[in-house]
Formats: sequence, C-alpha cells, structure tokens
Amino acid sequence: MSGRSDLLAELRNVAGGAAVWDRAELASRDPGFDDRNFGAEALVRPKSVEEVAALVRFCAEKGLSLVAQGGRTGLAGGAVTSAGQIICDLGAMNRIEEIDPLARVAVVQAGTPLAVLQEAAAGHGLDPGIDLAARGSCTIGGMISSNAGGIMAFRNGTMRHRLLGLEVVLPDGSVFRDLTRVLKTSAGYDLKHLFVGAEGTLGIVTRAVVRLDPVGGVPATALVGTRDAASAQRIVSHFLGMTGVSLRAAEIMWQGFAAAMARILGIEPAKLPLEAPCLLALELAAETAEDAAGALEEGLSSIWEETGIIDGLVAGSVEQARTIWRLREETEMIERMHNHPPSFDVSVPGGAIDAYVARIGEGLKALDAAYSPYVFGHLADGNLHISINADNPSRERYRAIEDVLYAGLREIGGSFSAEHGVGLDKRDAYERHADPVKQQLARAIKELLDPSDVLNPGKIIGPRP
Ligand code: LAC
Ligand code: ZN
Repeated sequence: MSGRSDLLAELRNVAGGAAVWDRAELASRDPGFDDRNFGAEALVRPKSVEEVAALVRFCAEKGLSLVAQGGRTGLAGGAVTSAGQIICDLGAMNRIEEIDPLARVAVVQAGTPLAVLQEAAAGHGLDPGIDLAARGSCTIGGMISSNAGGIMAFRNGTMRHRLLGLEVVLPDGSVFRDLTRVLKTSAGYDLKHLFVGAEGTLGIVTRAVVRLDPVGGVPATALVGTRDAASAQRIVSHFLGMTGVSLRAAEIMWQGFAAAMARILGIEPAKLPLEAPCLLALELAAETAEDAAGALEEGLSSIWEETGIIDGLVAGSVEQARTIWRLREETEMIERMHNHPPSFDVSVPGGAIDAYVARIGEGLKALDAAYSPYVFGHLADGNLHISINADNPSRERYRAIEDVLYAGLREIGGSFSAEHGVGLDKRDAYERHADPVKQQLARAIKELLDPSDVLNPGKIIGPRP
C-alpha cells in the first residue's frame, strides 16, 4: 500500500468509520464559494465531538494540519486547503438537539445550516435573530467562526451576540465546554468569545447554544430610490422610531450594482425604481402583511419631501418582494461577470458613508479610469460590500486597490473586515491595518493554544502557507 492509501485507511479508522473523501473525490465535488476549498489531501466527516477530537489528535501526532469546513460559503479564503492538509467537514453534525421555547434557546450541532435552524425555530414562533444571503448553506459553526453578521445585525448584533454557549475541540484534542444557556454569566474570562471569528485557527466549533427571539409580525418589502446614503439613513431612522412595527432589514445598493444586477437577472427597469443614485430595500414587520405594507406606504409619504425620496415602491405581491431581494442577494452573479474580481467587506461609521463611497470612486479611477466599484450592503450598521470590475489583478495592483479602500478607515472607527473575516485574502490588510499590539497578543494566544500549528495554519496569522 502506498503512503496515501495508508493515510486514507487510518483516517477512516480514527474517526469511527466516518466518511472520507480522497483527492479524486474532492476534485469531482462542488467546493462551494471558493474554488481553492478542496485542495486538501482528504476530507473527513466526523459524526460526533469524540470523532472530531480523535481526528484532531491524529493530525497533531502525524504532523498534519486540519482545516474545519462548514457550508463553504466563506468569502475571505478562511477554508482554503492545500495538498497534504486534511479537511474536517462538520456536515454530518447537523442536528438541532433541542429547542427550548420558554428559555428561547436552541442547542445545535455546528454543521446545522442557518435556514434549518430558522425553520425549526419558526415552528415555535421564534427566530435566531440573524439572517444572511447564504442562509441555505452556511452553517452555525461557520457563522461562529467568522462572526457572521448579515441583514439583522443592526438590531440583534452579530453571531457573537446570538451565542450563549459553545463547545470547541482544542488543538490538543481536549474539549472546551461552556454550554451556558443564560445571557448573564460574569464568571471570569468569557473564553467562548475567543473562538468567535477565529476561523478555526484556535479550535473546531462542534456545538452551540443560540438565542432565539419571538418572530414578531409579518413583513412587507419596499424599494426606495434616494440621492445618497445620508438620505437613506434618515428614512431608516424614521422607521426605527415608528411604534407598532419593527424594521427588519435596511439594505443599500448603489446605482452601479443595482443596474448590473437588474441586467443580469433580466429585471425590466420600468418594474422597479432603479434610476436613483442609491436604492434602499426595506423590510418592515407588523401584525399583518397589510399593516406592514400600509405602514411602509404611510411612512414613506410622510417623509418623502424632507428626506428627498426620488422614487419608491411597496411590493404589491410576494413575487415582487422576492424580485427586490434577488436584486440585493444574488451577488455571486456580479462576481461571475469577472475573473476573480477583488471584493471587499468594510465597516464605515454611519456619518461617513457618502464621503467614503465618493472617495473610493475617485481613488479607484486614479488607478485605472475603467475601474468602477459595485457597492452594496447593510446600511443600518455601515457594512459595505465592494466588488471591483477588475479581472484577477496582480498582487501589487490588489494592494493598491486595498490602499484606496482602507486608507483612514481605522482612524474614523471603521474596519477593513466587517463580517467576512481575514482568512488568507485579508492577511496583508490585517498586517497593515490591525493594531500592532492586538496582532502580538493574537500571536501569543495562537502559540499558547496551538503551538504546533495544527488547526487552519496560515489563516489570519502565522507563517503563510
Ligand atoms: C451579503 C454577503 C456578501 O451581504 O455578505 O450579501
Ligand atoms: Zn453581507
């Protein structure tokens, strides 16, 4: 037997007969959002925390590195693998173990897709309070590992704030277990947060206790055209202050993004108010869908003049609401128009958004007159997603683009990575823009927990792969 087939047999054995894919099988499967995800030697799909721990110990002993993968919807290269590495796929650990409707908590295994939890919680009139476009495939473990945010973060916080308890397999195979089900625990260092946003570099998340909230109403959707983000923000403030309703989403799309999406999706321009410089998609919930639509209509007319609304439409059917959300969410269409276009995920403090977008537009044009950014995102928390119409730029050009996008962001209190993480793709940015003392402390923590660099080496920090 060759070394390679020995290894596959050992992997099968070590994790209690867990499914194992070899390189050929990996090459024939869909790697998810990043075509580098399946570069590994093998993929192992454990069925229990014990099997994950056995796999971690095995890899540590053999000097192999192990990369955890959930829904493979990451956008910063955090789950990318290379030859010689082993993937720990959490897909078989996808059970909702419990929903406690009185305590409003769910205990879920890490591989549970978000949409599955949303649906199960809805059966109790509850909701995990977090939602994002990749809901059908992203997993709770992956969302914890990247501190996902999404559409409702402005109301409910990011994944960190939805998390009550956590179970994690550490790089030495021991299991950190803090399955607290209560919001208040002031019992020393709250170490579970160390693993939130750590992208599988400090441990492998296997189980979580997630907060649930009452669903609270039936939604209606509107699309509003405004001259700028500030005007859209005034509309958001109005609906946030309205009683008897709750604002669930306030997503913004600049003209370049919306026009390209409408073209790709074949949406007739006359059907939606697509002409304005900025488009704001709002979702408002009230007791009934009619109430919600009525509140949107009335609210928009009452502030039409003072906020300078250019055009607006409250969806009159489920189909129309769906079209608005497809326009905003099917963003991989934009990515596919170009060959590996650089894409970014920044947080900009509310008052600085228009100036930021104007500044990067000019800065990019100065690099290349043909550059124009597609800008969209989560207006109410200042998280902007930016893709550039550049095909696979050189590393030097990528850096120049980053310099335009990240200049001054930290100084105004923003962030070069809002919700997609650092992974491989934002490592340069991390090194150049994260606080040096934070970087030093992060290296010390990685060294303490994972001195042999077993888990997801080269992501965020450490020697580059
Ligand atoms: C979104 C992803 C790109 O908001 O974060 O659609
Ligand atoms: Zn997003």
